[in-house]
Amino acid sequence: MASAGKTQSPRTMSEELAYPPKTTNPPTSVSFQKPSLLLTFSYNESHELEFTNSSLRYYVQPPKNADLNYGYDRWKQRADDKGRIDSLLRAISKNRSNLDASGKDGRSWLQNIDIVSWRGVITKILTSPYEKWNSFELNVMFHDGTMYFEEFISNQRQLEYINMPPRQRRPMYYGFAFESYCTSTSPKPSHAKGGWGGDVDNHIQWCNVVETKLGDTKILIGGEVDCVRGKYTGTTDNFVELKTSLTIHGPWDESRFEKKLLKFYFQSFLLGVPEIVVGFRTRKGRLSTLQTFKTADLPGLVRDKPGGWNPLICLHWGTCFIDFLKSIVTSHSPSATNDIPVWRVSFTPQKGVSISLLSQEGVEEVVNGEDRVGFLPKWYFDEITT
Ligand code: A3P
Ligand code: MG
Ligand code: MG
Repeated sequence: MASAGKTQSPRTMSEELAYPPKTTNPPTSVSFQKPSLLLTFSYNESHELEFTNSSLRYYVQPPKNADLNYGYDRWKQRADDKGRIDSLLRAISKNRSNLDASGKDGRSWLQNIDIVSWRGVITKILTSPYEKWNSFELNVMFHDGTMYFEEFISNQRQLEYINMPPRQRRPMYYGFAFESYCTSTSPKPSHAKGGWGGDVDNHIQWCNVVETKLGDTKILIGGEVDCVRGKYTGTTDNFVELKTSLTIHGPWDESRFEKKLLKFYFQSFLLGVPEIVVGFRTRKGRLSTLQTFKTADLPGLVRDKPGGWNPLICLHWGTCFIDFLKSIVTSHSPSATNDIPVWRVSFTPQKGVSISLLSQEGVEEVVNGEDRVGFLPKWYFDEITT
C-alpha cells in the first residue's frame, strides 16, 4: 500500500482492519440513538441549496400498472457532485449560528460531534459485512474533535456514471420515475397521473440533517428524504422512503430481495424514516404491486431467511470501523494549523479496510484546484478555525 512522504511515525502511515468475522455469536445489543432532526434544506431545480422546504414532496398513490418508462426519452440525467459534503457544512454553519443566536454555544456543539457524513456513506460502512462485490473509498479528515467523511469518487468512476450503458440507465430511471409517480407538491394532487407531468429532475431534493449516536460516537448525518405521508409535522414520524424492485417470482428472487432489504433498512433507519414503500415492477418497467414495510420490522422479516441479515452485526462492525479510524487519525498531530492530513480509507469486500495518509499528489487531486483545505472548503475551515 502507498504511504505518504511527510514526517509521521510508521504507525500513522497505513493500517489495516481485518474484515469482521461473521460471528456465530453476534452481539446481543449495540446502542443506537433515535435520530433527532436538526434542520432541513432543499435543492432547487438548479441544484442550489435553500434553507426552505420548497422541495418537500407528499406521498400520493401511484396509478395502477404505471409505466415507469414514461418520460425516459426526454430525461436529462444529472451528475452528482462527487460526494462533496459542502452542503452539509453549510447546514452545520447554519445550525451553529442558530445556536449562537439563541444564547447557546455553537462551537462546543460542533466539537461534540464525532463524525460528519452523508447518509449514503454511513450506509455503505454499516452494510459492508454483507457486501460481496462493491468496494468503496473515503477521504477522511479530523479537525477540532470531528472526523469528516467524504466518498472518494475517482474521475474514472464519475465517467462510468455519466456514460452508463442503457441497460443500467433505464432501470435507474425506473427508480426515479416511481418516485415521481408517488410524490406531489401538494398532499392532494388534482392531476390524473398522480401529479407527475413526466419530467424527472433528480436535481430537486429535500434533505434532512439529523444527529444520532452509535455507541459513544455522535454522528451528524445528512440525506435525502423522498416524501412525507399526510402533513409535514417537523418530525421524522411520517417520512416515507420509496424504492423499486423486480417482481418476485420464486425463491431465488425472494432471497435476492431479502438481501436488498439490508440497504433499504439502513438507508431509512439512519435518518429515522419509519416507512418504506416498495414498487415491484416488471423487467420492462411496468409497476405491478406496491408493498409498504415498516423499517423497524425488516430485521424480523428476514431473520433466518436465505437472504437474511442481522443489523447488530452491521452496527457492531460500524463501531469497530469508527474506533479503528479514530485511533489512527487522533494519533497524528499536524505540524501547522492548516496542515490537516487527508486520509484515504478503502473498503475491499470480503477482506477489510485499510487507511493511509494521502501523499501531496493525492491531496491535490482531492482539492481539485478549488479553494479548499484538504476537502473542506476554505470558508468552512476558516469559520471553524478562527
Ligand atoms: P431505486 O432505489 O428504487 O432503484 P433513493 O431510493 O436512494 O432515493 O434513490 C432514488 C433512485 O436513484 C433509485 O431508485 C435509483 O434508481 C437511483 N439511484 C440511487 N442510488 C444509486 C446508485 N448508487 N446507483 C444507481 N442508481 C442509483
Ligand atoms: Mg430518494
Ligand atoms: Mg428512494
